[in-house]
Amino acid sequence: MSNKMWGGRFGESPDAIMEEINVSIDVDQHLYAQDIAASKAHAAMLAAQGIITANDAKNIVGGLDTILSEISGGGFAFKRALEDIHMNVESRLGELIGPAAGRLHTARSRNDQVATDFRLYVRDVIDDADRALAAFQRALVDRALEHAGTVMPGFTHLQTAQPVTFGHHLLAYVEMAARDRGRFADARKRLNESPLGAAALAGTSFPIDRHATASALGFVRPMANSLDAVSDRDFVLETLSAASIAAVHLSRFAEEIVIWTSPLVGLVRLSDKFTTGSSIMPQKRNPDAAELVRAKTGRIIGSLTALLIVMKGLPLAYQKDMQEDKAGAMEAFGALSLAVRAMTGMVLDIEPDEARMKVAAGDGYATATDLADWLVRTLKMPFREAHHVTGRIVAKAAEGGLPLHKLALGDMQAIEPRITAEVMDVLSVEASVASRTSYGGTSPENVREQAKVWLKRLEKEQNPG
Ligand code: ARG
Repeated sequence: MSNKMWGGRFGESPDAIMEEINVSIDVDQHLYAQDIAASKAHAAMLAAQGIITANDAKNIVGGLDTILSEISGGGFAFKRALEDIHMNVESRLGELIGPAAGRLHTARSRNDQVATDFRLYVRDVIDDADRALAAFQRALVDRALEHAGTVMPGFTHLQTAQPVTFGHHLLAYVEMAARDRGRFADARKRLNESPLGAAALAGTSFPIDRHATASALGFVRPMANSLDAVSDRDFVLETLSAASIAAVHLSRFAEEIVIWTSPLVGLVRLSDKFTTGSSIMPQKRNPDAAELVRAKTGRIIGSLTALLIVMKGLPLAYQKDMQEDKAGAMEAFGALSLAVRAMTGMVLDIEPDEARMKVAAGDGYATATDLADWLVRTLKMPFREAHHVTGRIVAKAAEGGLPLHKLALGDMQAIEPRITAEVMDVLSVEASVASRTSYGGTSPENVREQAKVWLKRLEKEQNPG
């Protein structure tokens, strides 16, 4: 039997392999709620415009509500022969309400339908991502406040550089997440226009009201060009870009957790809740969740790349290639959601080994810059010269296997006679972080202040008014 939705001019059924490559119901069934919402808005508009009768519209909307509960209740049998969600819904509507179902597709096409459905879907994805990232930020801020004064080594080149505070490190990710949320919000603004009513590609001869369907679906306005409306997927690309950048941020944090929990480093510990054991090595505590966050980033970036390649060079307007926009994107959005929630869990779970952090913070002459700064400030030495003198003092300490603050004053004075005992005040890791009071610096005082600013901002966002 030829397809009952479009088979008028077809005498034969499709080849099995044709059906298999063409079918999209496995993926686009996830758009059922959006598809039904858009169809309801369309039917109501058709009636309001006198294109179908009020009675037909009432039956259509009633039937669509029945289908919505059938699908969400798991009692709907999707048919592969009907290709996609649009035809599955319409066919079932026919079974439920008879020939009036056939009037629903007046003045629209699956091309504007799918573009509308997917915009609605991606808009929900963005709202979920925003909520998840906000929860991630709240977790980070809470822990930052708790650890505003916890000293840890700060790294450049993964070499111990200068002491920082653990709270400061956590707040760095709060800032990144804020920009990630900003990118999602920007994408949301641009995607929030309605393709519905663009029909196949050229618009329609029926007196439709695209503004009405747009506002019924929460879009700000209808898209202005019918060709553009059915043929662009930049809203998916943009959201995947935002997702990829957010995932890259998470992957950096995940990698740090992997490094920090290694017994070789031992700066933090994850509880049993966020580690797994080895089936052969009883001593192991593996940071699998962090490793998987790191890996999921690859898949998220991969789906962005894949869709960029699908879209590249496609002529206007709708091309079937675009059906391939959904599977990868949906998988990527799911992966991001999981990754954000896993990182939030780890942020709440993680326990720094404060003693070890403090020792490590002073390792490798991490307060050498503080000594150089002291020479500049107290002896008015040019920084370059202070850098050189400090280098010689570090070499002297290293010779004796001593940290800077254990080197005898006399040994320092042998290199620079004007150094006084007061220098010792700046050589501890606590003194070092406490002195970093410049705007955006790591001092516990700054961190406490910043964490409180964030706490307020995030609370206000949760309970506006
Ligand atoms: N399943 C299709 C997609 O996801 C829906 C649009 C199909 N349009 C068409 N003319 N075949 O892109």
